[in-house]
Amino acid sequence: PIYHGNLLKNPGWYVTGYQEVLTILKDTRFKNRMPLPQTSKRYEQLKNIQNSMMVFKNQPDHKRLRFLVSNVFTPRMVEQLRPDIQETVNNLLQHVQHRKSMNVISDFAFPLASLVIAKIVGVPKEDLSQFREWTVSLIQTIDFTRSRKTLENGNHITMILRDYFKELITKRKESPGDDLISLLIKEEQEGDWLSDEELLATCILIVIAGHETTVNLIGNSILTLLKHPQQMKLLKENPSLIGHAVEEFLRYESPTQMLARVASEDIEINQTRIKEGDQVYLLLGAANRDHNQFADAHVLDLTRNPNHHLAFGYGTHFCLGAPLARLEAQIAIQTLLQQMDNPKLISSEPSWRKLMGFRSLNELPIT
Ligand code: HEM
Repeated sequence: PIYHGNLLKNPGWYVTGYQEVLTILKDTRFKNRMPLPQTSKRYEQLKNIQNSMMVFKNQPDHKRLRFLVSNVFTPRMVEQLRPDIQETVNNLLQHVQHRKSMNVISDFAFPLASLVIAKIVGVPKEDLSQFREWTVSLIQTIDFTRSRKTLENGNHITMILRDYFKELITKRKESPGDDLISLLIKEEQEGDWLSDEELLATCILIVIAGHETTVNLIGNSILTLLKHPQQMKLLKENPSLIGHAVEEFLRYESPTQMLARVASEDIEINQTRIKEGDQVYLLLGAANRDHNQFADAHVLDLTRNPNHHLAFGYGTHFCLGAPLARLEAQIAIQTLLQQMDNPKLISSEPSWRKLMGFRSLNELPIT
């Protein structure tokens, strides 16, 4: 469950056991850290923006930044978006109805996640076409496979995003709306709680996080269902299972596969001594298939309950967008199943993006 390795030039402790991953996520002596070293002289734009993102911060900054946005994403607030999300899903499906085939990623999951998060944050619909390229590039910069080329590209995209959001923030300052940007501007002006850079970084983080993993959850879930026709039949006949089903998709094909931490002091876990400064990689996907925690861990069981998977992390950094991701996925999968009689894969093994930290399909053509 804990071994020392060096996968793709990422030396450190690789943790695969459920209990071990959970123990480390609960232990605040394991700190979150920026993917790029502070000392590196290159990629200034990327480094500066990552340095102000809550996901890479520790206390007290983390608590302050998370508190400012947490209200927007509570289950109660998110539930109010249900009619809007349902309407968006219906429109997207109607759009492809006359076609023989659809690409679940580009025709459905991506535009859905994009429209929903854009509305929450306050990004105009017309600008969304650029976001696919931006999120794809930026996710590569925080992945463990990153190369000089992806970092250079990410640095360039950050510059574009920075200018884009600066302009949008100026517009919202002049005419505020009821979106996240306007709310953060108000908090920045009233309380001296948030720097300009943090405001920018929070917008970029939420937009990227809101796009990437939700698309992966919907894509992975549909693919999993198509590979398990008995379970698909069960879900079609018992729509009330959708809540449990989405939790099982999160466990079985976890969109976020790996998190990173650094030990702030010498710590012993399971008789393994982790030294101060050591990097620790938590393999959520592996922990979610640990036989010591889940009966028949490699079997997809949409009725599994309880299902304490770690797909959204655990503890202080537990995914802020989890209620939104759950709701979007439930509505998207349920509606797609209701509206398509007998969906089938066009290619038996669709291609995966070459990432280590994320389980992400390039495309998913179905008929
Ligand atoms: C944090 C997964 C959707 C916003 C996290 C973390 C995980 C995760 C594992 C913990 C990171 C860590 O501990 O280092 C997922 C998955 C999603 C999803 C699997 C979809 C299926 C979303 C959405 C949003 C979002 C839709 C945007 C609204 C965030 C933010 C954090 C976070 C802001 C940082 C929280 C903090 O540092 O306190 N997510 N996420 N996520 N997620 Fe998500």
